Amino acid sequence: MKFFLDTANLKEIREVAGWGILDGVTTNPSLAAKENAKFEDLIRDICAVCPGPVSAECVSEKAEDIIPEARALAKIASNIAVKIPVNLEGLKATKILSGEGIAVNMTLIFSPTQALLAAKAGAKFVSPFIGRLDDISQDGMELVREITQIFENYRFDCEIIVASVRHPRHIVDAALLGADICTIPFSVIDKLVRHPLTDAGIEKFLKDWGKVKK
Ligand code: G3P
Repeated sequence: MKFFLDTANLKEIREVAGWGILDGVTTNPSLAAKENAKFEDLIRDICAVCPGPVSAECVSEKAEDIIPEARALAKIASNIAVKIPVNLEGLKATKILSGEGIAVNMTLIFSPTQALLAAKAGAKFVSPFIGRLDDISQDGMELVREITQIFENYRFDCEIIVASVRHPRHIVDAALLGADICTIPFSVIDKLVRHPLTDAGIEKFLKDWGKVKK
């Protein structure tokens, strides 16, 4: 499973890139709003640090406006994936942009039919938002299971980015389902390696090492 970082914060991206496990980055307008930088400069800097795809979101609402906005974003760097919300205008734009070889990440996916349409339109990625479904007492991971099955049935060349991740169990369940990618906030990725028994074990081994004759 590929690990993307769900952030627009360069410090966090540099940190996780340094761990050697960073495969990509996803941003959205809410994440960009937290950073004190011009959007285009921010995305360019992220693309320079990140070894894989960097999602930058289009905010236009009509296909005729989304298309030039996406083309301009795609020119920022070779590893840009343009993020487009899934609705009819977004689908129309995705069909044209994917035909031009621009990687599209269809976002705000909350149903399997939205994912199926996105894949048919040529999207390279779909982003089901599982945490937001869990927040309203629906099973976000069930959506991932259904999309995974549908994409396998028809061998769609479209990768699932499990998004709106809230805790490490989401990552375990996504991996068990064979989802291609999880996009993870820094606060959650930081928890993945920690275990109190590991810390206690290291402490004990170091204490006992002090008693070993050298
Ligand atoms: O990439 C955006 C997505 O992960 C949103 O997460 O926490 O705002 O539901 P959240």
